[in-house]
Amino acid sequence: PQDSDIASRLLGWYDVHHRELPWRITPREHARGIRPDPYRIWLSEVMLQQTTVEAVKSYFRVFVEKWPDVEALAAAPTEDVMKAWAGLGYYSRARNLKACADLVAERGGRFPDTETALRELPGVGAYTSAAIMAIAFDRPAAVVDGNVERVISRLFSIMTPLSEAKAEIRAHVERMVPDTRPGDFAQAMMDLGATICTPRRPRCMLCPLRGDCSAVVSGDPEHFPVRLPK
Ligand code: ADE
Repeated sequence: PQDSDIASRLLGWYDVHHRELPWRITPREHARGIRPDPYRIWLSEVMLQQTTVEAVKSYFRVFVEKWPDVEALAAAPTEDVMKAWAGLGYYSRARNLKACADLVAERGGRFPDTETALRELPGVGAYTSAAIMAIAFDRPAAVVDGNVERVISRLFSIMTPLSEAKAEIRAHVERMVPDTRPGDFAQAMMDLGATICTPRRPRCMLCPLRGDCSAVVSGDPEHFPVRLPK
């Protein structure tokens, strides 16, 4: 099948089965022309770097309640931000978050909308800049996290050990990203990995891509991604 067919099947599934998360707008809102607030996407993606979705939800709600925009976060004392972050771990993220808010606010309060400019911000690396480009600005960036690596490894039964397959996986994602709804595509890949194409006991019977998936044919999707022995 064509990559564009795979993307449409995934987007059709996402329309119905997307997770409702506090930083998200719904596909229906998106279709009506509503766009997510880059501040909220940036904040959520920094929180999600090393923390699970479940743990991030309540922290995200508290942060946007206290500091609804980047200017408010920039105006906050560092100590208050560190206190609100307590429990999320990896505290350098909180310092970078504050430094980034200060910088963006100083420059007029708008987040940059190129991957290069985003990557110059404190705490924003390759993954986070791609996620912001796709989700906040609806640009066709390849967003590859652990969930996406697993989905792609299975879809194409990649035999190369994961640590050596990163470029190959990225190339697949770059090819698959659709011109329309690249942000929903990125979020759909993550939701598929989190709810259907799970590390253990994937729910292949419910997967919109089971007809496209070469791991399902092998009968052992859990075999992928292949890992090097330790
Ligand atoms: N993990 C990291 N970013 C995410 C997002 N935007 N949606 C769901 N899971 C995520």
